[in-house]
Amino acid sequence: MRKTALPTLLAAGIAAAAVTASTQAFAYGAGDFFTRVGVAKVEPKSDNGELTADNLEIDVEDDSAFAFTLGYRFTDKLGVELLAAEPFDHDFSIADGALTGSTDHLPPTLTLQYYPLGGTDARVQPYAGIGVNYTTFSDEEIVGGGDLELDDSWGAAGQLGVDLLIDDNWALNAAAWYLDIDTDASLNGDDIGTVEIDPVVVMAGLSFRF
Ligand code: NI
Repeated sequence: MRKTALPTLLAAGIAAAAVTASTQAFAYGAGDFFTRVGVAKVEPKSDNGELTADNLEIDVEDDSAFAFTLGYRFTDKLGVELLAAEPFDHDFSIADGALTGSTDHLPPTLTLQYYPLGGTDARVQPYAGIGVNYTTFSDEEIVGGGDLELDDSWGAAGQLGVDLLIDDNWALNAAAWYLDIDTDASLNGDDIGTVEIDPVVVMAGLSFRF
């Protein structure tokens, strides 16, 4: 799903809200299972490191993809959330384009979350989380050939987000994660250094709780 899907998602959410509008207090909190769906953009940090072999700078580009989360609130103010997505596909270039290529990656991320206004009637429900990211790379390719391998990465994750409640079930959602993703790279079996991707993932879409 590409960026153009976002207005459609938002329109669908607003339409759903209009149909199911409710006057009850939302009781947003303990016991809720929830899912968030939207479009996520992965923006690697601007300086992705230098491959030690030749001091070659590597630059990793942005990508956007469909993403979703699953979560549970075990108290009004505390929850857990797992971020999942379809694979992101990043182009990269080494030494200002002397070498170019691409790789897919999947960055599932589990966070423990705090909702300061959980359990209140507030329709604006911010949250923050900390946790762990695991990233696995696949389909690493270098234009012109060569066998590039990127190792799996484990790292810390941080998260900020907000739900704007529409009704008992639906909310508009915006969220951002910071992921510490560092991967050891090898080319034709030789270790060529560590690539620091360390992206910010920005997602906009809808929350649904049930
Ligand atoms: Ni890092």
